[in-house]
Amino acid sequence: MFLPMGVSVNTQGHLAVGGVDTLQLARQYGTPLYVMNEDVIRSMLREFKRSIDENYENGGMVAFASKACGFSQMFRIAAEEGCGVDVSSGGELYTALKAGFPAERIVMHGSCKTEEELELAVENGVGRIVVNDAYELRRLTRVAQRLGKTADIYLRVTPGIDAHTHSAVMTGQIDSKFGFTLENGDAMQAVKDALAEPVLSLKGLHCHVASQVFDEQPFRDAARVMLTFLRDIRTETGVTLGELDVGGGFGVPYTAADEAKPCTEYMKWTADAMHDYAATLDFPLPRILIEPGRAVVAHAGVTLYTVGGIKDIPNVRKYVCINGGMCDNPRYALYEADYTVCVADRAGEEPCERVTVAGRCCESGDLIQENTPLQPCDEGDTLAVLCTGAYNYSMSSHYNRYPKPPVVMVRDGETYVAVKGETYADLLSHDC
Ligand code: LLP
Repeated sequence: MFLPMGVSVNTQGHLAVGGVDTLQLARQYGTPLYVMNEDVIRSMLREFKRSIDENYENGGMVAFASKACGFSQMFRIAAEEGCGVDVSSGGELYTALKAGFPAERIVMHGSCKTEEELELAVENGVGRIVVNDAYELRRLTRVAQRLGKTADIYLRVTPGIDAHTHSAVMTGQIDSKFGFTLENGDAMQAVKDALAEPVLSLKGLHCHVASQVFDEQPFRDAARVMLTFLRDIRTETGVTLGELDVGGGFGVPYTAADEAKPCTEYMKWTADAMHDYAATLDFPLPRILIEPGRAVVAHAGVTLYTVGGIKDIPNVRKYVCINGGMCDNPRYALYEADYTVCVADRAGEEPCERVTVAGRCCESGDLIQENTPLQPCDEGDTLAVLCTGAYNYSMSSHYNRYPKPPVVMVRDGETYVAVKGETYADLLSHDC
């Protein structure tokens, strides 16, 4: 069975996270339960930092993409590790600030940011605001003028690159809602507009190719396109911008079928390409920012459920029904995302059948996995879904009025609650 970093099978044959038995976790905290391994998160952040230090002499910053998993403790961990964060909404920004995250290390994203969001960012001196379009450039100008402050910005550029990944998480191709288009001159016009505006200080550019990308080529292409554009900006305006944020998107394995690559590979690819193209284009290497989200947290997470029953339909399929589903993990329903599933107290046994793991929401599409290998199980067993640290908690919903599960962190073999589980009363807290 595919075991992500920090996940093991203990001497009793039970699945363990950071050395802690998942059966014990399920007993202590109940299910459904998000379990996150803090040691894995910290070690991934350190790996990404090291990958910049070792491959890119001009320096840079790892800005953890908090949309992948963004509760308060995640911001505290990223701050302690000396990283930056990428926030993509007022809510993520507010969480970061309230968690005491240093504003100068925050990169503020988001498409269609409101004046309120931009105000929160400018007022608090957020490090870089990534402007997505011309309307936003004007909105930000108004906000900065009103507040009498200068905003340090990047412009988000659509690099026109097709990365081979799920269409819902492709962002770099021309047909995208994100960023300024290069081809029709919008991006260059935005650069000129930004440079002409006294309350805006244009520091560099941003791009993000896609998510869950395993190939080197899209990252190389992005480096080429962006450095070429930086060179063109210098030619047309005389200004040499010194920062480039190349986004995130580094792929991670979810099952044994996915190829595992060390996360340091990605920075190496980007750094190699940056070196190559900077030399060819005779343009100085900019400071670099990378925004890994999934690759930092995916492997740190395991979700625990309790099996409520089995529905075996002869010659059709066998459903294993659990006390969670698309409200805590919508990724199969949305993208048919692959996961590795196991019965927590039989993790050491070979899976002997193929089943469909079904959630409890009122729709047939509420599945966690179809046709997945699994050990035998029955009512009351704990079922574990691996690699759920990215885009599970952060994409959870209240569909069917299910309270959201707690997040329990494992650190050095000890556990603590990082996010409290919701109660029915919490569900009513905003009803008037
Ligand atoms: N930076 C920007 C500007 C982004 O839009 C994203 C992800 C990232 C960084 C981080 O990408 P990562 O390293 O996590 O691939 N909900 C989808 C993923 C959407 C990703 C959106 N943007 C999923 O569950 O697969």
